[in-house]
Amino acid sequence: MDYKQQVAQTISSVLDGQLSVEDVYTKIEVPKETKMGDYAFPAFALAKTMHKAPQMIAQELVEKIDQAGFEKVEPAGPYINFFLDKKVFGSNVIKTVLSEKEQYGQNEDGKGGQVPIDMSSPNIAKPISMGHLRSTVIGNSLSLIMNKNGYKSVKINHLGDWGTQFGKLITAYKLWGSEEEVKADPINKLLEYYVRFHQEDQEKPELDDIARDWFKKLEDGDEEATELWKWFRSESLKSFKQIYDKLGITFDSYKGEAFYNDKMDEVVSMLEDRNLLKESRGAQVVDLEKYNLNPALIKKTDGATLYITRDLAAAIYRYRTYDFVQSLYVVGAEQINHFKQLKAVLKEMGFDWSDDIHHVPFGLITLNGKKLSTRSGRVVLLDEVLDDAIKLAQTQIDEKNPDLKNADKVAHQVGVGAVIFHDLKNERTNSFDFNLEEVVRFEGETGPYVQYTRARAESILRKAGDASINAEDNVISDPQAWETLKALESFPNVVKKAAAQYEPSVIAKFALHLAKSFNKYYANSKILADDAEKNARLALVQSVSVVLKEALRLLGVEAPEEM
Ligand code: ARG
Repeated sequence: MDYKQQVAQTISSVLDGQLSVEDVYTKIEVPKETKMGDYAFPAFALAKTMHKAPQMIAQELVEKIDQAGFEKVEPAGPYINFFLDKKVFGSNVIKTVLSEKEQYGQNEDGKGGQVPIDMSSPNIAKPISMGHLRSTVIGNSLSLIMNKNGYKSVKINHLGDWGTQFGKLITAYKLWGSEEEVKADPINKLLEYYVRFHQEDQEKPELDDIARDWFKKLEDGDEEATELWKWFRSESLKSFKQIYDKLGITFDSYKGEAFYNDKMDEVVSMLEDRNLLKESRGAQVVDLEKYNLNPALIKKTDGATLYITRDLAAAIYRYRTYDFVQSLYVVGAEQINHFKQLKAVLKEMGFDWSDDIHHVPFGLITLNGKKLSTRSGRVVLLDEVLDDAIKLAQTQIDEKNPDLKNADKVAHQVGVGAVIFHDLKNERTNSFDFNLEEVVRFEGETGPYVQYTRARAESILRKAGDASINAEDNVISDPQAWETLKALESFPNVVKKAAAQYEPSVIAKFALHLAKSFNKYYANSKILADDAEKNARLALVQSVSVVLKEALRLLGVEAPEEM
């Protein structure tokens, strides 16, 4: 039931066609304070056509309005305030949630259209960074949110497994590396070789020539180069997968940059056919002046292709493979220009679907106030952050609930959930600080707080014997329940808003709000008291549990039954 729609219809029906239901709908506001009602219509929207003071209009319209279905409708200055019938409203929400269960909030707006989501995409032979963590958890949540809106998401890990750096890595490995070392500690060793290459090539520039040769060999399919590259790739992937397992995140495709190697010629000839390639200091570029962008560098002097060339091939491949309705790229804000260029070049190539490509950028994470980066050596290993979070969760569980069964599993769900939730509760583009103690707290705006609230709801239901709850007996007269009922009712719209803005934080904020309002209700009412509304209260508790669990699921966070 869309109550805003009901309000819009009610108003529109007394306007003699001055404003359509849709127009009224867009003008309806939600008052800041509940004592001003649940919805308000600003009568000054009609002042021009009715040639009257808005206060007068509000007065007159209220007299004409059919109040049935509302608790009351009253004028307040230039506004008309609508108060919903709380009992009917509450009863409807509970009935809907309990009959639809985890399907509650599902819609078919996406009509089954496919949405590839480029996410995580770390670089081979380097540690996965906090930035990649952000991309992974934002991308995963977006895929769940898109599916909840009737789309079919495809999670793609566009691995950074190609480029001149592999020439450097092979060179370094051949000079200083050993098989045993790499096997024992792949990522760190490979990184070490790579860093050493950059130190030594300051004095020995010939190293760069050797590296360029190796990359050329790799591009030409040389056997030794290919074997080494494959090995580096699979070792790196193994270590990435450990982290993905910990996060509980899977991918539908691991087609990285290298996959597009044999698709580059086609891209280049498409660009040539459209006369888009220009020579600039020996390199081939696409001029993007009319977009106010720097030229896109497609091919270097030595013929090597670039990051953007591979992205062009990938975009075209995804269009052909998935016939997508939207194509998302969850990549840090530092690549905004890259994606602008990508879209502009595709547009120049005549692909209208370039409008359906959306870069979904996000901000930086700082650790206790300091910027994280690989270059400065402040490598923060994601794996360690997750392990620390799990340990911290364990300590808290030991304190609060020493007899908990499956404590290990719950500590994992809480620790990892805390890191994910913290990442997602802020608007994507905000930068935020990461302080582990704060992230894993059971109180405040944290994932564990939401999980804890939901586990508490489950424990009430266990005490009551939840099998006996009747979803039809659901009328609650306690005004304390109102906030919670309203939060529950808003969930389907929250799901839509999160998809429209590509913003998991909309879901996270909703979960916090629902948890808070429920805890307030819980503190002020005797849920298990034996009176006429006991069943209705338990039905509300069950509804809260269902929706909190579903909201957490959309973030990629698990909800333990007990904690
Ligand atoms: N590997 C890149 C990096 O770590 C991110 C790739 C993002 N995806 C893309 N299609 N360009 O910076």
